[in-house]
Amino acid sequence: MEKVLTRNVGIADSHRLETYRARGGYRALEKACRMEPDEIVGAVKTSGLRGRGGAGFPTGVKWSFMPKEPHPDRPHYLVCNADESEPGTFKDRLLIENDPHLLLEGCLIAARAVRSSKVFIYIRGEYVLGARRLEQAAAEAREAGIIGQDIFGSGWSCDIVVHRGAGAYICGEETALLDSLQGGRGNPRLKPPFPAQYGIYGMPTTVNNVETLCCVPLIIERGADWFKSIGPDERNTGPKLYCLSGHVKRPGVYEAPMGIELLELIEEFGGGMLREGRKLKAVIPGGSSVPVLRAEECQGLRMDFDSLAKAGTMLGSAGTMVMDETTDMVAVMERIAHFYAHESCGQCTPCREGTGWLLKILHRIRSGRGRPEDLDLLDSVAGHMMGTTICPLADAAAMPCRSFVSKFREEFEHYIRHGRSMTATA
Ligand SMILES: Cc1cc2nc3c(=O)[nH]c(=O)nc-3n(C[C@H](O)[C@H](O)[C@H](O)COP(=O)(O)O)c2cc1C
Ligand code: SF4
Repeated sequence: MEKVLTRNVGIADSHRLETYRARGGYRALEKACRMEPDEIVGAVKTSGLRGRGGAGFPTGVKWSFMPKEPHPDRPHYLVCNADESEPGTFKDRLLIENDPHLLLEGCLIAARAVRSSKVFIYIRGEYVLGARRLEQAAAEAREAGIIGQDIFGSGWSCDIVVHRGAGAYICGEETALLDSLQGGRGNPRLKPPFPAQYGIYGMPTTVNNVETLCCVPLIIERGADWFKSIGPDERNTGPKLYCLSGHVKRPGVYEAPMGIELLELIEEFGGGMLREGRKLKAVIPGGSSVPVLRAEECQGLRMDFDSLAKAGTMLGSAGTMVMDETTDMVAVMERIAHFYAHESCGQCTPCREGTGWLLKILHRIRSGRGRPEDLDLLDSVAGHMMGTTICPLADAAAMPCRSFVSKFREEFEHYIRHGRSMTATA
């Protein structure tokens, strides 16, 4: 497939305005400035674009939840979620560092669509180069009159502010992000009200992921039908960035159509298994928060929202982690549990206590002190965490745990019985 989202990656000075414009950049914004906001929303709806931040909610539909016209006392805001903290996920970083103007262009078009004059880009604190590149790009665009007053003679004005986070995974959750952006502690809150009614400063706000926003200029420039023609069906459309890590020869970020076969991604893009002769054991397809797949489940499996949901897992952030036959699955699960226990904001009892208990039990098993009843206990604790909390972080810890125990039960039992791993090299 022709590279579209990553077409500027690898080009000299790809982050500069001059380079971006020479390669056709900001033409889509110019076109969008001649379109009515509802026309832009309509095009994005038709394209079938679904949010690339994890949940896969249709972007055009989300935009249409914003009020029709801003009330004088209730301005609209667009917020770009560049927090990217899900383990195994590093796709937004590639776009931010290599093509910051593509993201700015996407932000501006989206802002016009939701009738906003102010964009905040919330970038994770660890992305130092990315934040610098975005600030430089915004300064260049402001200087050139692309950001600011009366953009392309449309009468519409818009500014962009880059804000750096301080390194908390939970600040990627949209309501926590908005609190953090306002200078508060990043604690999720119950929805509704959704940000479209009550967002930053209590005003109507749309929150979108970096990759989602980078798709928008492509849709405006090449058309919704072009975007829709990529992918397996109408519900799973467009180009997609896949993060590939673990036991593959060439880990990295790869652009391919939505719905590429998982094994093709591993073989063709990743160069196959890292060590010759070792067999595939498991894949986490969408970042650490989604259920794991056994090797036999990967046969013929497509990497899109609906195919993965049918297989009992999720596309999530497309953070694809590959594990060969030597992997100690109990150790992997303990590591994942450690992350969620550390990152829980602590507001909800099932999450605060549950993530801690999962970690404690897994640690007990791993250190050779496991009890026969521990597997049922893990399942019971995880079960009480699902769907009982303010935000989905508790589910994000519980779902992988349940899938690891049910799909690799023999490995957990071996640990409990013999006090050590059953894998060859662990
Ligand atoms: C714990 C948690 C962490 C999240 N982290 C991110 C993140 O780093 N980046 C992101 O875009 N969305 C993240 N999300 C999803 C956002 O809440 C939100 O759904 C997303 O930014 C919406 O953008 P989209 O519609 O373009 O996908 C996270 C959600 C949860 C529950
Ligand atoms: S589920 Fe966990 S992270 Fe989410 S609000 Fe509750 S305690 Fe905080």
